[in-house]
Amino acid sequence: MILKDYLHEQTAVVDRALDLFLPKAQVKPATIHKAMRYSLFAGGKRLRPVLCLAAAQACGGEIAPGLPAACAVECIHTYSLIHDDLPCMDDDDLRRGRPTSHKVFGEGIAVLAGDALLTFAFELLTLAEGTPRYPVAALIRELAHAAGSRQLIAGQVADLEGEGQHLSLRDLRFIHEAKTAALLTASIRLGGMSANATPGKLEALTAFGMNLGLAFQVIDDILDVTQTSEKLGKSAGKDVAAQKATYPALLGLSKARKEAQRLTAASLAALKPFGKKGEILRALADYLLHRDY
Ligand code: IPE
Ligand code: IPE
Ligand code: MG
Ligand code: MG
Ligand code: MG
Repeated sequence: MILKDYLHEQTAVVDRALDLFLPKAQVKPATIHKAMRYSLFAGGKRLRPVLCLAAAQACGGEIAPGLPAACAVECIHTYSLIHDDLPCMDDDDLRRGRPTSHKVFGEGIAVLAGDALLTFAFELLTLAEGTPRYPVAALIRELAHAAGSRQLIAGQVADLEGEGQHLSLRDLRFIHEAKTAALLTASIRLGGMSANATPGKLEALTAFGMNLGLAFQVIDDILDVTQTSEKLGKSAGKDVAAQKATYPALLGLSKARKEAQRLTAASLAALKPFGKKGEILRALADYLLHRDY
C-alpha cells in the first residue's frame, strides 16, 4: 500500500463522515454552524482521525466502527486550534491557509465555535457502538481525560505560563506531552478500542502514541523556525516572537532534530507486537518525521 494513496483515501472518508455528522451550515443559528464548518473544512492534515482508523485496522478491525471516534478527535483538535489562535492565547491570524476564525467571525463567535466543536465531539462519540472490552463510556472517558485539565488544557496552561521563562527540558517535555501527545495518543487508542484491542495491543499503541505525539510537537516547533507561513498555512516564526518554550529554543535545531528522530524510532519499536499489521502505522510515523508542513 502506497502511503500517499492511503492518506488520500482515509482523509476523504473522514471528510465525508464529518460532513454527514455535523449540523448543516443553514441550521439556525447559521453563524455558529458556518463557523464550525469554516475551521473544520479548512484543509487540516486529518492526522489524528487517520491514525485512529489505522490503529483500528492494525488491531484487525474495520474502518466504519471507528468513524465516530475519528471524527470526534478531529472536532476536539479543531476546537483547540480555534482557541489556541485567539488574541488572548497565541494571537494568530492564519490557520490552515485561511484567516483564523476570530478574524472572520469575531472573537465571540470564535470562542463559541470552539465550545460547540468540543461539545459536539462527545455527542458524536456516543454514536460509537462500543465493543466487549470497551463500552462507549470507556471511549468517552478516554477522550474527556485527554482533552481535559490534566492533559490538553494542562499543556496549554503550562505553555502560556512558560512564555519568557527558562524552562527545564523536563518541564518542556511535560508541556508537549500534555498539549499534543495526549490527544494524539487518545486518537490512536480510541481506534484500538473500537476494534476491541487486547490489553497488550492497547498498551503497545499507547507507547507508540506517546512517542509519536511528542515527536510530532518537537517537529511542529522545528517547522515554526525553518518553514515559511505559506508552506505551513499558519504564521511561522511565532514561537521566537512570543518567547515560547520550544525544543529548538532549548536544545538548538540540530539536537531538536535528533530528539525527533529518537522519539520516532521509539514509536516504531513499540509497534513490534503488530508484525505486518503495523505496516501503515510505521509508514505514518516515518512520514510525520520527514514532513515539511
Ligand atoms: C497543529 O496540529 C497543532 C499541534 C498540535 C502541533 P496539526 O499540524 O495536526 O494541524 P492541522 O490539523 O494539520 O491543521
Ligand atoms: C498547539 O500548539 C497545541 C494545541 C492546540 C493544543 P502550538 O501553539 O504550537 O500549535 P500551532 O503551532 O499554533 O499550530
Ligand atoms: Mg499554542
Ligand atoms: Mg499556536
Ligand atoms: Mg507550533
